[in-house]
Amino acid sequence: MQFLVNPAAIRSGTVSVPGDKSVSHRALMLGSIADGETRVTGFLDGEDCLATLAAMRAMGVSIEQPSNTELVIKGVGRTGLAAPDGELDLGNSGTAMRLMAGLLAGQPFSSTLTGDHSLTGRPMRRIIEPLTAMGARIDSRDGMPPLVISGNPSLTGIDYPMPIASAQVKSSVLIAGLYADGTTSVTEPAVTRDHTERMLRSMGVDVRTDVGRISVLGGQALKAADIDVPADLSSATFVILAALLAPDAEVLIEKVGINPTRTGVLDILASMGADITLENKRHLAEEPVADIRVRSSELQGQAVDPALVSLAIDEFPALFVAAASAKGTTVFSGLEELRVKESDRIASMAVGLTTLGADVTETADGAIVNGGGFRSGTVESFGDHRVAMSLAVAGTIADGPVTVLDTQPVETSFPGFSLLINSLGANISILDEVQA
Ligand code: S3P
Repeated sequence: MQFLVNPAAIRSGTVSVPGDKSVSHRALMLGSIADGETRVTGFLDGEDCLATLAAMRAMGVSIEQPSNTELVIKGVGRTGLAAPDGELDLGNSGTAMRLMAGLLAGQPFSSTLTGDHSLTGRPMRRIIEPLTAMGARIDSRDGMPPLVISGNPSLTGIDYPMPIASAQVKSSVLIAGLYADGTTSVTEPAVTRDHTERMLRSMGVDVRTDVGRISVLGGQALKAADIDVPADLSSATFVILAALLAPDAEVLIEKVGINPTRTGVLDILASMGADITLENKRHLAEEPVADIRVRSSELQGQAVDPALVSLAIDEFPALFVAAASAKGTTVFSGLEELRVKESDRIASMAVGLTTLGADVTETADGAIVNGGGFRSGTVESFGDHRVAMSLAVAGTIADGPVTVLDTQPVETSFPGFSLLINSLGANISILDEVQA
């Protein structure tokens, strides 16, 4: 699949983007091991979460999907999972693999986790080390998937100072901690998304947080809870970006998650001069949401505060596009984790934006971007959904057509992306890849 983006800036309108990916994965995993029936609305029906859904079903959990965005999960209880028949294929999803490894570490059976070309090249030592310290045995291909997990139903709690700021690692260890003797604690070097902690609490689990140290006592039961998943701020970011770049747009995006561990992108864009307001703030259970109003804005380059990186970790491809269309110079630093996402996002964006005429210099942990405009060209997604969507949005204001190659991965997180952006006035056609 490819996107052919003919320049057409978006105009005004009201839209809803799909459900939050992080919350949808957690709803599936935690709902499966809860006691009772968990009803999920606003579920993200994207490939990543569908891989988690299939994995939970393969371990004996009955999950109905009455509509694309609704699930009924018949929880089997903390100790009710059954050994899967074959490998669990988690597709493109790092979140699914790392959280699932934590869940499987404490099971009385062995399992194998695998994934696609991108996922099988991603680092897993970051979870293998703490889970091994808790008593699981995990064999890997030199620190990369497939992971063969020999579960151990009597894990031991650990006190883990996490060397990198990663919500996936934190969540993996805390979920394993539900199966461990004693208390499991994780100390994070910077604040990361806390959806696991919030959802566990909404299911009656006592999770304690004390200045960057999160603790859970093993053996606690989870109670089923209804989960209304907020719209994904990471997906909303592409609509926000398209509106900011357009000459005259005002867009309202409804019911978007504004958990403060996720809103770094809004702070960074605001400091670049973006006109973004949060309206109708409310809560969906433990998660705060708002309607986000965005108006076209003249952006100004700046040195992006590295303290905001863990709060905006998935938004840098879009922020690179914002920087490339801003006035002046933007300096990104502290982004080393971007090199081990679905692609090396610093390199992928530097290559793509340079092809579109932008002035981007890659550095070891970021980039220096001098604002200008975008010209016509053909760019690669490097198999990365967020790179594909960021470059497509750049194309909406380019001086000629932009083709984005290999856009199939967009289905992992934002099914219907091009239709939604087109409903606001963009002109993105989907072309089938010409087979060589
Ligand atoms: C996620 C955490 C982040 C993020 C990913 C989703 C999660 O990864 O990049 O898209 O759901 O916990 P890291 O925690 O590894 O940075």
